[in-house]
Amino acid sequence: MRMYDIIHKKRDGEVLTKEEIEFVITGFTDGRIPDYQMSALCMAIFLRGMTAQETAHMTLAMAASGDQIDLSAIKGVKVDKHSTGGVGDTTTLVLLPLVASVGVPVAKMSGRGLGHTGGTIDKLESIPGFSIELTTEQFAHNVNTLGAALMGQSGSIAPADKKLYALRDVTATVDTIPLIASSIMSKKIAAGANAIVLDVKTGEGAFMKTLDGSFDLAQAMVEIGDEVGRQTIAVISDMEQPLGYAVGNALEVQEAIDTLRGQGPADLTELCLVLGSYMVVAAGVAKDAAEARQKLTESLEQGHALDTFRRFLKAQGADPAVADDPKLLPQAQKTVELPADRAGYVTRIHAEEVGTCAMLLGAGRETKESEIDLAVGLVLRKKVGDRVEAGESLVTLHVGDESRLAEVQQRLTAAYEIAEKAPVQPTLIYGVVT
Ligand code: URA
Ligand code: CA
Repeated sequence: MRMYDIIHKKRDGEVLTKEEIEFVITGFTDGRIPDYQMSALCMAIFLRGMTAQETAHMTLAMAASGDQIDLSAIKGVKVDKHSTGGVGDTTTLVLLPLVASVGVPVAKMSGRGLGHTGGTIDKLESIPGFSIELTTEQFAHNVNTLGAALMGQSGSIAPADKKLYALRDVTATVDTIPLIASSIMSKKIAAGANAIVLDVKTGEGAFMKTLDGSFDLAQAMVEIGDEVGRQTIAVISDMEQPLGYAVGNALEVQEAIDTLRGQGPADLTELCLVLGSYMVVAAGVAKDAAEARQKLTESLEQGHALDTFRRFLKAQGADPAVADDPKLLPQAQKTVELPADRAGYVTRIHAEEVGTCAMLLGAGRETKESEIDLAVGLVLRKKVGDRVEAGESLVTLHVGDESRLAEVQQRLTAAYEIAEKAPVQPTLIYGVVT
């Protein structure tokens, strides 16, 4: 087999075989296929597309390029949840103890944040003592005994994807659905989940900006799941404005705890109940989404979800008292209010700008090497549809390093659109693909 012939074939719009795709992925991973040939193939895929079957072959080949986690030591149907990334997206922190509390084993691998979206590990590490350094045995033991465990995603999960993503990033071939879908699914499959619930974010703060694109991506990933025998469900949810109120690591942990207490923001709570219901059904713990939702709601009301969170924290080396005393979380040096410059209704909050502002305050990484301040970030006081008076606070900023504070204040003011007429209430969930 020759890479030249494979590039030529895809350039002419033909369908690649399983053997050809495996040849490409193994050769690229071990360095036999040079970047310039792989770049040409990515561009041909970008222009010509791939069938559902080609995409599934690509996914499995990338999943097989490194470690494949064996979760068979964990009893029950292992369900993983993945978000395509949003601003202030605290759902994993809530869902992990919530679905574990009703008997779904949660074996989660997470990553760190980059750019305007945060990472689950960074958030959890704001809890004093929290450690993601578990051996595979400890990981399985914790899931079996208390229902949930979380570890860092090892560098050896889907190395082909890591290398390919870096190449796509510099050759204008990131935003094409077969490559995005296979990239995301290869990591989930290598991480060992039996079933996968995807939260595909849509809107300006999301990776996928349009509703059509988001549905297409959801469909492509569900098709991969079907092709490779892992039940996959995708929920398309809004990322026009940030989710919940808090954006920043310790601030989002606090928001997750409030939500587990039943006192969280309405949108975050609702999204967690919807995603959680599909996880519970996929695990076979409820017969349908309505019964699953009932179980989850009861767990929240009766405090079981919060209790599971306390036990999860203890098992990962953290102080469970954090669940009852927010003062134990890192606190920013000071808070600054952002006043509205006029009265009216909030009609839009540009999510990506809000995420970028949190990053500029030090909550996120501008580059992989950036140091982050776990205490800083922002808490929205007003969301889309809310009435605001001139001078009333739109956002509370939690500030450490003040070097970019003035820029943040200016950008955040511009990120809020305020008009005289109330807008229609934004949609939270646009649909589900199964
Ligand atoms: N996220 C991924 O993991 N891969 C992509 O290609 C795009 C977004
Ligand atoms: Ca939030």
